[in-house]
Amino acid sequence: MSEKILVIGANGQIGTELVLNLRGKYGAEAVIASDIHPSKHPLITEEHFELVNVLDKVLLENIFEKYQPTQVYLLAAILSATGEKHPQMAWDLNMNGLLNVLDLAVKYKTQKVFWPSSIAVFGPNSPRDNTPQYCTMDPNTVYGFSKLAGERWCEYYFIKHGLDVRSLRYPGLIGWKSDPGGGTTDYAVNIFHEALANNKYESFLSAGTALPMMYMDDAIRATLELMDAPADKITIRSSYNLAGISFTPEQLAAEIKKHLPDFEISYAEHDPRQAIADSWPRSIDDTQAAQEWNWKINYDLAAMTADMLENLKG
Ligand code: SER
Repeated sequence: MSEKILVIGANGQIGTELVLNLRGKYGAEAVIASDIHPSKHPLITEEHFELVNVLDKVLLENIFEKYQPTQVYLLAAILSATGEKHPQMAWDLNMNGLLNVLDLAVKYKTQKVFWPSSIAVFGPNSPRDNTPQYCTMDPNTVYGFSKLAGERWCEYYFIKHGLDVRSLRYPGLIGWKSDPGGGTTDYAVNIFHEALANNKYESFLSAGTALPMMYMDDAIRATLELMDAPADKITIRSSYNLAGISFTPEQLAAEIKKHLPDFEISYAEHDPRQAIADSWPRSIDDTQAAQEWNWKINYDLAAMTADMLENLKG
């Protein structure tokens, strides 16, 4: 059966790359991109694009009706830092957007749904190193607890409605094709742009703040591999831990310096994102992803840094 894939939130950091990848794999007409604004990416045009707010269930249902999607990727969300500025809006979008999609996916018999969770589901009382799949989870950001509640809803729809919903707890994502917006891990993308433009960067996270991160190529591959895995291999219907590479701003700066010897990093004194980072894991245990659908990372810190600089140099 031919696929019809709907990507909601196609203009964001992950959505942009996913649309490009899915179109490469399935053909342009098989992938309907959608967002609240037209895409600014030169390759994502008005063709096979729908303007929709995921909170507008009537309009969203028209799109399900029109395309009868076989797969839906829901990426529209407000991230951690922006969520703290607009807590109710973040809860509303992250939660009701998901519920609208899960509901319509059941109604229109969508075969598979992908929804991203995050390392933000963990909190100050979660083990911070090699954080296991199951442990104390007391996230203290609106983004974090909207993702944790969302995971529970995904599993609930799988159990109650048999909906084939799959999810990953992404680490901070680093790529050159699209920019992040409103996250705590954004520094690790911004630093590359500033390093190339000005040879310096002021990090809003402190020198020693280790966080789990991942190169976008790996993140997209993980997503597609999870979605392609046979359903009986997927034992986790909330969301899988995904480890990536853990490093600090200081370590990333040192790696950049190997390519740009004059690069200098400095650190902001007070930034609200520091407290968010301090409540998240430093590293993640993703044994189950490796065991169940053969997940394996490709890019380490050195390979990612080299590839980012190479591509951004233009
Ligand atoms: N990268 C996201 C953020 O920083 C976490 O999922 O908000």
